[in-house]
Amino acid sequence: MTDTVSRNERIKEASDYLRGTLAEGLRDEITGAIVEDDQQLVKFHGMYLQDDRDLRPERTRKKMEKAFAFMIRVRISGGVLSPRQWLALEQIARDYGNGTLRLTTRQTVQLHGIIKSNLKATLKQIDGVLLNSIAACGDVNRNVMCGANPEESPAHAAALALARAISDHLTPRTPAYREIWLDGEKIAGGEEEAVEPIYGKTYLPRKFKTVVAVPPANDVDIFAHDLGFIAILDGKGGIAGWNVTVGGGMGMTHGEEDTYPRTAELLGFCATQDALRIAEAAVTVQRDWGDRANRKHARLKYTIEDRGLDAFRAEVVRRAAVLLQEPKPFSFTSTGDRYGWSDGKDGRSHLTLFVQNGRLRDDAKAKQLSALRRIAQSHDGEFRITPNQNLIVANIAPERRTEFHWIAQEARLLAPWSGLRRNSMACVALPTCGLALAESERYLPDLMTALDERLAAHALSGDDIVIRMTGCPNGCARPYLAEIGLVGKGPGRYNLYLGAAFDGSRLNKLYAEDLDHAGIVAALDHMFAAYAAERQKGERFGDFTIRAGFVAATGNGRDFHANVRRPAQRRA
Ligand code: HEM
Ligand code: SF4
Repeated sequence: MTDTVSRNERIKEASDYLRGTLAEGLRDEITGAIVEDDQQLVKFHGMYLQDDRDLRPERTRKKMEKAFAFMIRVRISGGVLSPRQWLALEQIARDYGNGTLRLTTRQTVQLHGIIKSNLKATLKQIDGVLLNSIAACGDVNRNVMCGANPEESPAHAAALALARAISDHLTPRTPAYREIWLDGEKIAGGEEEAVEPIYGKTYLPRKFKTVVAVPPANDVDIFAHDLGFIAILDGKGGIAGWNVTVGGGMGMTHGEEDTYPRTAELLGFCATQDALRIAEAAVTVQRDWGDRANRKHARLKYTIEDRGLDAFRAEVVRRAAVLLQEPKPFSFTSTGDRYGWSDGKDGRSHLTLFVQNGRLRDDAKAKQLSALRRIAQSHDGEFRITPNQNLIVANIAPERRTEFHWIAQEARLLAPWSGLRRNSMACVALPTCGLALAESERYLPDLMTALDERLAAHALSGDDIVIRMTGCPNGCARPYLAEIGLVGKGPGRYNLYLGAAFDGSRLNKLYAEDLDHAGIVAALDHMFAAYAAERQKGERFGDFTIRAGFVAATGNGRDFHANVRRPAQRRA
């Protein structure tokens, strides 16, 4: 390998297929941490080493090691769990974690606060219910998402089948996970093609995210992801095939304009039997063409910007040896969840619950974990985590309906009335995320209370408006696709972005920088007033902020940082 590759590339190459010195590091009882190189490798096993940032000052004063613990992200294709799996994860959160379960924006579960000495026991229990955490983080194809919206049952089943097939096909094959965490036998390293036929020794240049959508719901936020499949219905309740999308991604760095979020583009249409080959080819082209020198320029979105969509398509078609047709027409209506009850097959029904920012716990306000445990104990359908950090209790037997409804209501899991809160997401940020520049999950609920008051004053409480917040510009809660996006800049300070499309097809644009709480509320109050007074029939808030001149529309990619209006140029 040449000198020009990044440090992470060297770590991967020297790791013997993701083993590194993890096994030894786990045995070292002197520290709650693991060595630096292993911190990179452990991500491929679905874990991040973190520390409780709330405790940092006190522990520094006492000259103690940081309060280290691990976050484990489970791999759950399409977000579908059996009640037994739900119960197991919930029990692990109580026994080994911080007593909470965190549903994520990519349809999985995160367990926080697991100390090093409990990692193996935790992963064994996860394995015991046929789940694992391999490739939930790291430079590989991550958890494959699938529209959770249960309206289109046959299409949902086909989408889930595709999501699972892609996930299985693109999961790393290295025996390291089983060896290190599950006391599997050490299997001697083999030829690259034998151990990792798709990835090879150095895996991908960066993370790779795949989703499957079922229109008209764009709950998976398909344009935010590296690779996407849009179900094209055949008009008889089945699937005619899939439109393929490529090159979406959220992350950027403040002040570095050559990093930017980007919406995915349409690559073409393929038949169901060809979808897996297309997925594999997209991954291997990115494996070979992606930038391995600069991690900030390594996502597929930059490969496509640099090489062009046509060149990328030609190479994918060549490697997959299948033809892509012109994309078929489709339309999305929203990125949100459809809360409450809906009908399923055979007299069964689904209940979509509201989970504020995906965090489930038992506290003085509500015992949400316990409520869901009660449901899981008598539920014979499944649980579906939505891409909006919510939860669907799916395929509920008719005789359970009333009971589940009351349990959910008592635990405050039914959706609130506020159209803003119903469409809100926040990333984890403090205290666990080492990259957070500002609060997110712990602050957004309070901000929304203040904003709800302003919306009520303008008679807008019931209007669906998408708001998303992250503690840093990496964009884990996809803030650049929100009508109101707030991105942490420093403690208590946020950049405000406006003008994304309600259906998730257009990015927003920077409106104001470094706003504090009062500044955010004042800026938005002013806009809510204008929206209430001037909006056209059916006009969405994001579209309005562009028409009314608050921000310019963002086209794509590089255009994200263009045409940002300075305060003097803005509509006041
Ligand atoms: C360079 C970019 C990124 C880095 C370094 C990064 C890193 C992290 C870290 C450290 C966490 C753990 C936070 C915690 O649980 O304490 C996290 C959470 C998460 N990230 Fe990212 N992230 C990046 C971009 C993204 C993007 C673009 C997405 C999705 C489109 C995403 C999806 C998630 C999800 C789903 C979680 C789980 C928590 C949640 O739902 O908020 N990440 N990320
Ligand atoms: S957006 Fe930033 S602060 Fe939030 S979880 Fe992701 S990396 Fe952490």
